[in-house]
Amino acid sequence: MMNFIVLTIFPEMFKPFWAQGIIKRAIERNKISASTINIRDFAEGRHKVTDDRPYGGGCGMVMKPEPLAGAIRLAQKKSPNSITIQLTPQGRVFNQKTAQKLALYDGLILVCGRYEGIDERIRLNLIDDEISIGDYVLTGGELASMVLIDAVTRLIPGTLGGVDSAEKDSFSDDLLEHAQYTRPRTFEGEDVPEVLLSGNHKKIEEWKLEMSLIRTFLKRKDLLKNRPLSEQEIEILKKWCLDIEKIIHSKTLHSTDALSGCQ
Ligand code: ADE
Repeated sequence: MMNFIVLTIFPEMFKPFWAQGIIKRAIERNKISASTINIRDFAEGRHKVTDDRPYGGGCGMVMKPEPLAGAIRLAQKKSPNSITIQLTPQGRVFNQKTAQKLALYDGLILVCGRYEGIDERIRLNLIDDEISIGDYVLTGGELASMVLIDAVTRLIPGTLGGVDSAEKDSFSDDLLEHAQYTRPRTFEGEDVPEVLLSGNHKKIEEWKLEMSLIRTFLKRKDLLKNRPLSEQEIEILKKWCLDIEKIIHSKTLHSTDALSGCQ
């Protein structure tokens, strides 16, 4: 069972997150366990302060080391086989491959920074890995933690409906998913593609692969470039080349026609 422990000064943010959908079901089925530790509980004094001004000056506040150290050490004691990850825009950018690797751990301790960052000595001594969910800056690591937990949970066997739902989805083989249709057969004058109603499974699989390839080509060419192609995929791409050539050859382009569109 995957054990998620989130260290945050806003544990309330996670209550609705644990209580919905796939995450809720995964907890109920003992596929994951999920808890938070409030960093503020480890802060000293009447005001339980968790941040302080940076040495050397500068704007913003820094998370104090003592409360973070206390919270992280408790989490590591509770879940000794876990890896401790800080969510920060300075981390390596999260993707499906990282999600797959993280899904193999016994537990993830997720440290949510706030303010301008955390004291460097915590980062060096108590954090194993740093992950960003993209090149933009959030007000804290909480939403980033939820993104990571969501992406990892759905990869744990038994958390999704279909047996192979996670294997077939976008990105796991660097192809985007083909278009999807459900009932009704005609919606606002638009029909479901005939092939999907044909019952011909070989044709349907060919159509799905072709549609995945088209989508990936149009939306994310970078994914196709970094991926080996199967013989069947190469045949599909060659067919497009021929179709495109046919279109080009069927037009006799006059130079004036070609220019008129550009002026
Ligand atoms: N904290 C603030 N911004 C973040 C980001 N982009 N990813 C992860 N954690 C963050």
